[in-house]
Amino acid sequence: MEKMWAGRFEKASDKMADDFNSSIHFDKKMYKQDIKGSMEHAAMLCRVGILTPDELGSITSGLASILHDLEVGDLDFDMNAEDIHMFVEAELTKRIGDTGKKLHTARSRNDQVALDLRLYMRDEAFAVIDLLKALTKTTLELAKKNTETIMPGYTHLQRAQPITFAHHLLAYCMMFIRDVSRILDAVLRMNYSPLGSCALAGTTYPTDRDSVAEALGFDGVTMNSIDGVSDRDYCIELEAAFATVMMHLSRFSEEIILWSSWEFKFVELDDAYTTGSSIMPQKKNPDMAELVRGKCGRVYGDLMATLTMLKGLPLAYNKDMQEDKEAVFDSVETVKKCLAIFIPMVETMKPIPENMLAAAKRGFINATDLADYLTKRGLPFRTAYKIVGTVVGKCVKEGKTLDEIPLSEYKEYSEIFAEDLYEEIALETCIRKRISKGSTGYASVMEQIAYVEEQI
Ligand code: ARG
Repeated sequence: MEKMWAGRFEKASDKMADDFNSSIHFDKKMYKQDIKGSMEHAAMLCRVGILTPDELGSITSGLASILHDLEVGDLDFDMNAEDIHMFVEAELTKRIGDTGKKLHTARSRNDQVALDLRLYMRDEAFAVIDLLKALTKTTLELAKKNTETIMPGYTHLQRAQPITFAHHLLAYCMMFIRDVSRILDAVLRMNYSPLGSCALAGTTYPTDRDSVAEALGFDGVTMNSIDGVSDRDYCIELEAAFATVMMHLSRFSEEIILWSSWEFKFVELDDAYTTGSSIMPQKKNPDMAELVRGKCGRVYGDLMATLTMLKGLPLAYNKDMQEDKEAVFDSVETVKKCLAIFIPMVETMKPIPENMLAAAKRGFINATDLADYLTKRGLPFRTAYKIVGTVVGKCVKEGKTLDEIPLSEYKEYSEIFAEDLYEEIALETCIRKRISKGSTGYASVMEQIAYVEEQI
């Protein structure tokens, strides 16, 4: 195929160079955005008198027929085209003749690709938000069913204080809510149209950038044409937001992996979201959660790839920037796939409250409450802390729990101890008495549930 710029050159480019240069095998993903952008660009060219209504009519119907044929599979992408923009333009000219060659007036591929990518990422950002909302809802539903399910809360992966399973799950809901707001925030900054920046300096044609921006659902146009074609901040911001989503999913995955092990057995994963082993007949492996944890790394990598690609690039467009797309596409596709698998995995996950409670009963997770018991009756907290530490040491030696030590023995440590201490260190009491805002207490958890419900 003869190059668009053949006039300037004395010989054709090398085949390997063409393949190396070509991006159609990945930027074909943006065909819808490219065609939509071209339709609005043409409509504007007609409004300002650059195209006649007839020319606009044939460009619009030509583009519509290309879109249709791609959608139904009647048209294949030409892998010899340099990119999606060249492909659509060449196909248009093939279909409608010379009028097709007028489409690229007052535009460059530099602002065209910047436009397409913004449109694409806007659609994808909302797709990720929808999935995040669905996962928040699923996690919330599980929390609502487990407001009375007592489990150990951990620090350093050591049993620390009693909490409810609902409280633990709600922590993830809060993360997902912030994830949504981070993405929305990035979209707000991204949602300005670069189209009309042209190659870098703008154009001598009397274009109307604002009306195209409005027709494409943007909040306005980018204010500096050099920035308009050079900016990929929105890729970085969205990749960073997706990397944060993946980090949250990875932490949740890690817990699900631990919880479904025989060491914990706090949950049972549904057979549909686990795998067996090719050699060990007893195995039921949490592969989905492990893969999500593993895929977190590639999404971090996508962010790093984009940051590094842009580092040190002079203004304005450089071909390096073609490398933005595979990274950003991989980032969005990976996060979507991970969210999509997480929703049914969490939905079908069965908590095993007996095991959570059994674990909560071991590990002295009511020790803080015992220290508070003494403190509320007049001892300085540090003194109380020390006494309880000594009692715990004794329990460890004797293989007992705090509620198995008789009152007479407690009295040896402090005269303040009385019969009501047992009620005070009951796990249920420890939770009920957590009254601070955001705590594991029943009222606080109900408040958190209401908050999450309102957010989604
Ligand atoms: N395929 C190119 C990209 O993705 C489109 C822009 C090309 N512009 C240029 N001046 N070569 O970045």
